[in-house]
Amino acid sequence: MRHVVLELFTLYVFINAVRSLDNGLALKPTMGWLHWERFMCNIDCNTDPNNCISENLYMQMADVMVSAGWKEVGYEYVCIDDCWPSHQRDDKGRLQADPKRFPRGIKKLADYVHSKGLKLGIYADLGTETCGGFPGSLGYYDIDAQTFADWGVDLLKFDGCYMKLTLLGEGYTNMSIALNKTGRGIVYSCEWPLYEWPLHQPDYSAIRKACNHWRNSEDVFDSWNSVKTILEWTADHQDIIVPVAGPGGWNDPDMLVIGNFGLSHDQQESQMALWAIMAAPLLMSNDLRDICPRSKELLQNKRIIAINQDPIGKQGYRTAKVNNFEVWEKPLSGGRLALAVMNKYEIGGPRGFPVTLATLPSWKICTPQCNVTQVLPSYKELGVQTLFTKLIVAINPSGTALLTVTPIKGDNNIQWQLWNDRSNKNSHKSVL
Ligand code: GLA
Repeated sequence: MRHVVLELFTLYVFINAVRSLDNGLALKPTMGWLHWERFMCNIDCNTDPNNCISENLYMQMADVMVSAGWKEVGYEYVCIDDCWPSHQRDDKGRLQADPKRFPRGIKKLADYVHSKGLKLGIYADLGTETCGGFPGSLGYYDIDAQTFADWGVDLLKFDGCYMKLTLLGEGYTNMSIALNKTGRGIVYSCEWPLYEWPLHQPDYSAIRKACNHWRNSEDVFDSWNSVKTILEWTADHQDIIVPVAGPGGWNDPDMLVIGNFGLSHDQQESQMALWAIMAAPLLMSNDLRDICPRSKELLQNKRIIAINQDPIGKQGYRTAKVNNFEVWEKPLSGGRLALAVMNKYEIGGPRGFPVTLATLPSWKICTPQCNVTQVLPSYKELGVQTLFTKLIVAINPSGTALLTVTPIKGDNNIQWQLWNDRSNKNSHKSVL
């Protein structure tokens, strides 16, 4: 029985893998840094030279990504967002970087980033203009894809402003084909579903075939309200979006804003825990040159990163709402499970969440026993547990407890049975 289950599971992973964009990239959620939320469209290098969108910003981020341990834990892509180009294409119709702010051009910047062992991301738009009013790529997909490949770009974030909504699918697919034609491995980050939702439910299997990740919901802001809204949107649409995620193609809930101004430390822990559970791309938008040590420690927490990067690449889902707690679960390799319990109260002090079969149906994997590790709010080995032990975790208002649960094999093979149940894409429907 066990090997039949394993074979079926392998087949399922294989079928999912062949259905994704066939560029061999993003087999795990992309990790890196993206300028938008923190630096936006600041092009005023005269009065704000340290924070304006210029080659210096990306070179400095690349330097610090290596020197301060970011690269070592997996952050790899240094990504340019909007407002980098000149308002004019060159005489061959190619995009060019703003000559004042990028005097050495993007190719030299890519060489610099590569010399640090990192990768470079860039931004463009499938319509007539970028959202910030710079030249769009409509009518230039092949030229722009080739230009990015010639420069040595490793990721393209392709926005959807100023485009006829009915042509979104065609545009995103054509750019995917154009990128593939260049022969360079370029991670393709789309905003296709975000722009398509107001029209109709997007075709996620087409999106997964064209893109390596895709934004579904609105732009993240530096606030708890924004993070909560994205989580709520994700949970509300999980039946549609969770089953499509997997190696090669991921739902993108937008940037991590940890290390900025708007989130308390507990809220930063919640964003990190939930982005790990959602198998989200971990693209930080903050100032790595000046970041508080606690935020840095959180973003570099290897146990949380390992949950996000787990090789089976399953996105987690919200499985319960109990007494103003939310429970989210992500299946991990080896039949393990990651659990995030968020305290939704924004009043009072820490509240205890009792981990029982009633509050947490997948606690069944603790039959006959399991090993529990608390990853957040602090690392703690909680030891061997059974179905009936009384485990209570304390969680601060708007904070999250993140646990991993490892079943200890018994005679009755129940964990394999449950593993099989959880691999069924509809299993999350039963609990809410
Ligand atoms: C849109 C995107 C953002 C950012 C801006 C840039 O709003 O969703 O992530 O790229 O455009 O103008």
